[in-house]
Amino acid sequence: MKLPRNFKGPSLSLVRQNPLPVLGRGGPRWGSPALFGLYRNGFLPENTHIIGYARTKMSHDDYIDRVTAYIKVNDEEKLEQFKKITTYHAGQYDQDESWQSLEKAISDSESERGLDSGKKNRVFYMALPPSVFIPVAQGLKKNVYGKEGVNRLVVEKPFGMDTESSNHLARELGALFSENEVYRIDHYLGKEMVKNIMNLRFANVFFGHIWDRKYIDNVQITFKEPFGTEGRGGYFDDFGIIRDVMQNHLLQVLTLIAMERPISTDAEAIRDEKVKVLKCIPPIELKNALLGQYVGADGKPGYLEDDTLKNKQSLTPTFAALVAFIQNERWEGVPFIMKAGKALNESKVEIRIQFRKVAGNLFAGSARNELVMRIQPKEAVYMKFNNKQPGLSYQTIQTDLDLSYHDRYTDLSIPDAYESLILDVLRNDHSNFVRDDELEAAWKIFTPLLHKIDGKDKQVDVKSYAYGSRGPQELEAFVKSYGYDRPNVKYDWPRQSMSHHANNKL
Ligand code: BG6
Repeated sequence: MKLPRNFKGPSLSLVRQNPLPVLGRGGPRWGSPALFGLYRNGFLPENTHIIGYARTKMSHDDYIDRVTAYIKVNDEEKLEQFKKITTYHAGQYDQDESWQSLEKAISDSESERGLDSGKKNRVFYMALPPSVFIPVAQGLKKNVYGKEGVNRLVVEKPFGMDTESSNHLARELGALFSENEVYRIDHYLGKEMVKNIMNLRFANVFFGHIWDRKYIDNVQITFKEPFGTEGRGGYFDDFGIIRDVMQNHLLQVLTLIAMERPISTDAEAIRDEKVKVLKCIPPIELKNALLGQYVGADGKPGYLEDDTLKNKQSLTPTFAALVAFIQNERWEGVPFIMKAGKALNESKVEIRIQFRKVAGNLFAGSARNELVMRIQPKEAVYMKFNNKQPGLSYQTIQTDLDLSYHDRYTDLSIPDAYESLILDVLRNDHSNFVRDDELEAAWKIFTPLLHKIDGKDKQVDVKSYAYGSRGPQELEAFVKSYGYDRPNVKYDWPRQSMSHHANNKL
């Protein structure tokens, strides 16, 4: 077996021969390509057995068809081997007999694989709706919890609807599994560029020293998807864009941008700093929010036309721009603008840090510096800065230092976020998972605002925007009001033509 880089010695015995039950229907869609990716690259521990578990009865062959339908990599030989370590077990979520039959399937498999006592490790991956979260965790603990090896429980969001429901879940789960056994997945923490934030900040002297309110004017974290909720309206309507991607994915990104330097790269050191900075963010106020819902355009259906939506008068936001402020010495007064929307004009997730303008600037009209970290698509880090226009001209133009991964790194291979996170679970590394106190601190920032929105309070105004647009028309003015200065100079990324400037004076 090829050992992962940074593989921590003591974990080896823990993860050597563990079955990986995958619970719930989400498993095949997200889990299987990631598990196959790990298997194919030699990162799944030898002798692993993967068991899918859900209520739907289906034959082994049907399960294999479902699982492999999501695997796009062309490697027939490996795929055939992977199928041999994958089985399916149907059962209920709330009945002891079902769990006992899963227990029997796992222990039979452990005996067949000749696992020694102490090495019968089990990872339970719960990709389940929140309504069955607790009964499943209880059923597992009571009937399937391994006594001759380690147990790890991976849980997927949503972790509740607000502070109270999340705390309730945490209490129930905490009574069953220790915090060390629980891995709360936020798949954004497995993305390459998100994992890079700490390196960029703390391994470069020039970023470290300008990373505060003195030099940074505003920060924008943007999530744009070009498709609507089609087919997911039932789920989405209860949650809305803020719970779906902001309270978790975007806030995690913000936290990594804003936290202080941890004392080491250990999971707890990182998570301690994350919690600290989250506790410095007061709840987001309604006056610092712009909400929107998409309407049909160019033959594309509006949110309310989604067949899976029950409430046809729903005011659930599918777009939000929210501004958070961090009350500490480093960040006071700097707006962190999180923007997220479905059915927008493009697919893009990025962090944009806009610096303050140069005081007493010699070169009037030059744009502010920006550092952009593009999370997806096409990972890139680029720094927008001002430069003399090449040639006889003395004009200052905006240009960039560009690290586009696909141009820069040959043989680039970026693993899927889930692949990287499942590997972390096997390595017993919690750094990229959400701790219980972190989750509570995160909910506190959003809960009062969410309650106002859920209350269908008349003061909550949800603007319309067209499917395929940049969001509500009010967005540009909203962002500007927090200091973001959209440069009025011509600038294109990643290639720039000098012809724009051809008529400018030399
Ligand atoms: C999920 C949300 O957590 O993240 C989805 O529930 C969203 O609504 C998805 O589409 C985005 O993930 P990614 O990796 O495609 O950016």
